[in-house]
Amino acid sequence: MSDTVNVSGSLRTRLTLTLIGGAAVLTVLVFVVIRGYVAQIAQQGQDSILAASVSSILDAAILREGAVEVDFPYASLSMLSTDADDRVFYAIYQDDGLLSGYDILPEPTAVSGAATVHRTVDLDGTAIRMATAARTLIGADTRTIVSVSIAQTQEALAVTLNRISRNVVIFGAGFFLLTVVLSFWATSTTIRPLRRLANSITRRGPDDLSPVAGPVPNEMAPLVASLNRLMGRLDTSLKQSEDFIAEAAHRVRTPLATVRSHAEATLQRVDRDENRMALRAMIRAIDESSRAAGQLLDHAMITFRADHLEREQVDLLEMVRELVIRMTPVAQMKDINLHVTGVDSVVATGDAILLQNALRNLIDNALKYSPPESEIAIQVMAHPKPRIEIRDQGPGFPPDEIDDLTTRFSRGDNARGIIGSGLGLTIAQDVAEAHGGTLTLSNLPGGGACATFSL
Ligand SMILES: Nc1ncnc2c1ncn2[C@@H]1O[C@H](COP(=O)(O)OP(=O)(O)OP(=O)(O)O)[C@@H](O)[C@H]1O
Ligand SMILES: [Mg+2]
Repeated sequence: MSDTVNVSGSLRTRLTLTLIGGAAVLTVLVFVVIRGYVAQIAQQGQDSILAASVSSILDAAILREGAVEVDFPYASLSMLSTDADDRVFYAIYQDDGLLSGYDILPEPTAVSGAATVHRTVDLDGTAIRMATAARTLIGADTRTIVSVSIAQTQEALAVTLNRISRNVVIFGAGFFLLTVVLSFWATSTTIRPLRRLANSITRRGPDDLSPVAGPVPNEMAPLVASLNRLMGRLDTSLKQSEDFIAEAAHRVRTPLATVRSHAEATLQRVDRDENRMALRAMIRAIDESSRAAGQLLDHAMITFRADHLEREQVDLLEMVRELVIRMTPVAQMKDINLHVTGVDSVVATGDAILLQNALRNLIDNALKYSPPESEIAIQVMAHPKPRIEIRDQGPGFPPDEIDDLTTRFSRGDNARGIIGSGLGLTIAQDVAEAHGGTLTLSNLPGGGACATFSL
């Protein structure tokens, strides 16, 4: 089984970045709009003072004996004084000629009626704001147009704008930070149901293939529905393979057992040596096939179960004791003494059926490959890891083959004449690995094999 998943990006990052990106764009937009609006209001303020100043000067213009006289009050210009000492320029024109004031201001263009015209002009690189208005003076026989322009630099305005901009920036930064925090919060709230689903599936027992029951958000419903369908199908096919393995074992072993009992019965009845020899060879072949079928099916069962480990608390010492009791008749036939040692109980988590199968194969090997009237010592240890050591007093594993004995169907030189299929150690090793453990084979200094099964 592989845990590698082809991952491309993260929903959480994508969502967070989108929200933060959106917030950044929004913040800049809000800044630009507020600044523009404030600039407009400030400009209107300056414009209305300029207009008041222009009209107070225009009001002071009179026509005396055909000549225009303007004796404008001091307040007309002093009302324009600012904190930033902005410079003020004025110009009074009669018809098209400059009557008084600065000639650096651009001449008024088509000023009509009472409306005041505002415009921003460039004066030696400085932007100045200018207001212009005109008035028609009518004398006894003259009629003349007086126009007045007042212009002012915009430093005070810039200072005000900068101050406001700074405040808007601070406000914008605060707004942005708040949105970032909210984005993280919103993202984790959105992702939470996904994570909950993943957790609930990860936490399940290996054979819990029941459908996901908890409510899920609308968008996740198709995913959960297909997951449930998949699990349904998996459940059915798992049950089918389990049934198939059991059925196959039964079908192969039963007829073999029948043939064997017939062969044995016939062996009792025939006297001729060559017939007896043939029958013995037959029985042996049947035993070989039966063993091979049994081991093959066990191996298949183990491969299948290893993917769906059924983890439960298993007392290894008790399991070994039970196995030993069951195998004592075989041991007695060879006068072998099975000796179990270990502390009170060694509890491990694992699949009891698999563990039993592995240990049975290891004890079976010790019985098969060690001489009669010997002893097999089985030691069950809890530390540092649950571990079982099986030592016998036989010839030990063939040293030059020891590394290959755990491969499928591999049998050692010493196995000649002994019934077996070469799958026992493969099974034991697969079981150990399925539990995250190892199977180590070694030979004892004083002779004899030692198989260490650790979890
Ligand atoms: N206790 C042992 N002492 C000496 N040799 C052993 C021992 N256990 C295993 N072997 C060697 O390792 C080989 C592989 O063992 P394994 O259990 O995999 O197969 P097997 O016993 O031949 O067949 P079976 O599948 O029926 O168990 C054996 O054929 C034997 O040569
Ligand atoms: Mg074996």
